[in-house]
Amino acid sequence: MNFSSNDWSCCALISIYFLFWRVSGSNPSMNSRPNIVLFMADDLGIGDLGCYGNNTMSTPNIDRLAREGVKLTQHLAAASMCTPSRAAFLTGRYPIRSGMSSSFNMNRAILWLGGSGGLPTNETTFAKLLQQRGYKTGLIGKWHQGLSCASRNDHCYHPLNHGFDYFFGMPFTLLNECQSTKTPEIHRALRIKLWISSVALGLVPLLLLIPRFAGWFKVPWTVVIITALVAALFFTIWYSSYGFTRRWNCILMRNHEIIQQPMKEEKVNSMILKEALSFIEKYKRGPFLLFVSFLHVHIPLVTKEKFVGRSKYGLYGDNVEEMDWMVGKILDVIDKEYLRNNTLVYFTSDHGGRLESQEGKFQLGGWNGMYKGGKGMGGWEGGIRVPGIFRWPVILPAGKVINDPTSLMDIYPTLSYVAGAMLPQDRVIDGKNLMPLLEGRVFQSEHEFLFHYCGIYLHTVRWHQKDCGTVWKAHYVTPKFQPEEGKACYWSGLCPCSGDVTYHDPPLLFDISRDPSEEHILTPDNEGLFDSVIKKMEEAVKQHRKTLMPVPQQFSVFNTIWKPWLQPCCGTFPFCGCDKEDDTIPTGL
Ligand SMILES: *[C@@H]1O[C@H](CO)[C@@H](O)[C@H](O)[C@H]1NC(C)=O
Ligand SMILES: *[C@@H]1O[C@H](CO)[C@@H](O)[C@H](O)[C@H]1NC(C)=O
Ligand SMILES: *[C@@H]1O[C@H](CO)[C@@H](O)[C@H](O)[C@H]1NC(C)=O
Repeated sequence: MNFSSNDWSCCALISIYFLFWRVSGSNPSMNSRPNIVLFMADDLGIGDLGCYGNNTMSTPNIDRLAREGVKLTQHLAAASMCTPSRAAFLTGRYPIRSGMSSSFNMNRAILWLGGSGGLPTNETTFAKLLQQRGYKTGLIGKWHQGLSCASRNDHCYHPLNHGFDYFFGMPFTLLNECQSTKTPEIHRALRIKLWISSVALGLVPLLLLIPRFAGWFKVPWTVVIITALVAALFFTIWYSSYGFTRRWNCILMRNHEIIQQPMKEEKVNSMILKEALSFIEKYKRGPFLLFVSFLHVHIPLVTKEKFVGRSKYGLYGDNVEEMDWMVGKILDVIDKEYLRNNTLVYFTSDHGGRLESQEGKFQLGGWNGMYKGGKGMGGWEGGIRVPGIFRWPVILPAGKVINDPTSLMDIYPTLSYVAGAMLPQDRVIDGKNLMPLLEGRVFQSEHEFLFHYCGIYLHTVRWHQKDCGTVWKAHYVTPKFQPEEGKACYWSGLCPCSGDVTYHDPPLLFDISRDPSEEHILTPDNEGLFDSVIKKMEEAVKQHRKTLMPVPQQFSVFNTIWKPWLQPCCGTFPFCGCDKEDDTIPTGL
């Protein structure tokens, strides 16, 4: 594709936009603060849903939301990894502002529940804003924003410290190891024997040192070191076979209490649904904010038997369909309680599907539709373009589709606005209030530039040229796919943000509004249009950088390593384990 001056002729439309521009200061929804229900899927691709063009996957409930509300087609996550994207969602700010983005390729999210990084306590989440406005706020499902700072039970980063009145779910995230079939339990007697043997073995090298320091005789150093290594090896093997990843990361909490360690993964989704329904029943007098943060559709794709084999796409598809069914159950209770007209419902995914998730021929990760790339990549559309659906009957038009760029960070000021809260004035908020656009009071998204980071590295800039609606995208850095002709980083499993990446000077420029699949690289042209677009973007980057302040990095190496003294544990460390939950599931859930 080549540049032509036609690209600019559309700018004449500017005058038309202004004719329709009605700036309204009044807020029609102010006197009736709505209830708010937010659904966030984990790793779901935009191409997995019926309402985003998938005609072979069955997602009738999410499709119904789109039919009854507004569907955003250029809705963008602020990062293509869970922890930073969710931090931005909760705070309305680029994750680099809160230190929730990484300079290391190895730790781009929180890796251990017993680590010390997390969403800083001086960040103000939308839950906190709404709580201050009298909302009852609940988080049910995944958190993944850290837990403790300095001691096991300080829970400084806990959802209850970030504006939620109620929390039920996983403070961490689903992992393959959460599946009990992958890490068989060792029974208690054997565990104790192994533990005693490890301690005994560990004492041997110390005993060997005694004669040396007592001045009797000297055991050669090599012998001491070898026995120490053997003891360490034995300890490590014991530790791994004990299933520590599952036991330590896959836990379930209610508020500050650990109720299952390890979590029973086969029951957890039914429990999440049960909790969501009872939260609505309990607070139906409103106003309430319920954030349902699904464990779906992250691997290992924990799916009820009832749904296994239902879809055409193996376990992945079954898991998507189960999540859709859960959305339906929650929408049903909203209807049953006559809350529909007074409830703003939102559905999204934290970022795109993970292309590298495959097991043999089986697909375990999502489908990003026509968009290039996926989870973990900084700027390619497939990693960050996600579903975005808003339903609020009577206030928002039904069946409306908006193609302008919007961000998950916009939820923050949008919720603040509908709840009549005040935005914090002492910090930059990157999101924009979406209500005028959703209601049709304005015809364009307020976003002019969006910056797409991979960790702390700026990879891509998006320019929504408002006078003509064109959306330009410039990639300064792109990941190197492996194999080279492939579509993702299959060999390493996740594309790096720095190091082995490709730098582009001049940047790769695309017109996303006409070429959403990013296939046609625009080339410098005679009229100098290419240069002027790039110049405009570079100026924007300069301005943006001026607003960034140095903050402590939450994913530093020290923060992300596992610290025994921070490990949440019910029971006696290191034999953590309990099951305090009455997990009888009502029929039908
Ligand atoms: C629907 O989703 C499945 C599962 O992710 C995917 O394999 C398939 O290609 C999608 N179909 C369409 C038409 O997008
Ligand atoms: C919701 O609003 C619509 C349109 O105004 C109305 O017909 C319907 O009865 C309302 N439903 C409830 C439960 O209030
Ligand atoms: C939070 O505290 C850190 C230092 O601990 C500071 O750098 C940062 O600016 C603070 N953030 C806000 C939003 O006040």
